Amino acid sequence: MKVIVCKDYDEMSIKAAEFIAEEMKKKKNFVLGLATGSTPVGTYKNLIKMNTNKEIDFSDVVTFNLDEYIGLDKNHDQSFAYFMYENLFNHINIVNTNAHIPSGTETDYDAYCQEYEAMIERAGGIDLQLLGIGSNGHIGFNEPADEFSDITHTVDLTESTIKDNSRFFNSIDEVPKRAVTMGIGSILRAKKILMIVSGKNKAKAVYEAIHGPVDPKMPASALQKHSDVTVIVDEDAATYLKK
Ligand code: F6R
Repeated sequence: MKVIVCKDYDEMSIKAAEFIAEEMKKKKNFVLGLATGSTPVGTYKNLIKMNTNKEIDFSDVVTFNLDEYIGLDKNHDQSFAYFMYENLFNHINIVNTNAHIPSGTETDYDAYCQEYEAMIERAGGIDLQLLGIGSNGHIGFNEPADEFSDITHTVDLTESTIKDNSRFFNSIDEVPKRAVTMGIGSILRAKKILMIVSGKNKAKAVYEAIHGPVDPKMPASALQKHSDVTVIVDEDAATYLKK
């Protein structure tokens, strides 16, 4: 894995946006995998700036988001769909039908998850997948488990993830307990992966992901099995990487 250490969140966000922009310029009908959460907000701001300045064009870009809470409608202000429109899609020239976010309101998730995988395949596979990491090492909503998951599936969120994400809700009781997420296999099938990490609370997880054993109890360690992964971290997140 290639690791780039930046001085702070802002520098990480600029570097990540530049990385994505360079990849986007290489190919028509680029397929971009996207994440939500606090970490990519700055990256998305920089991508919006580049799109406004006409440095990059989203008109033929296809996107697939990693995950969504189950039980939240796409118009709910804590849904990942809402987040994506607020923080990126409303501000760039993407064609809305090209932006895919797993649905949080399906009745038949077995069929839906297979269809989500099929849509990725029909688009030609993901060229670049952007990832954050949870403080427990999750990627997407692939929580620590006994084995690595493969395709898009539903999951029960762990107490630590519910606690981490409760900062966005009025109370911890409002945080959904289940989610739909691309699997570790779906993520590893992307041609290229970019993980961005910021803050001291992620330092241990990112160290173990890169240098620890490949173990489903640390889901991000699966990235060691991929041949083209870049990790952009700020200094706080790099605390253990530098020792
Ligand atoms: C969100 C996602 C999650 C987050 C992770 C870190 O789509 O896939 O794995 O990347 O929970 O979240 P933040 O960036 O809020 O610390």
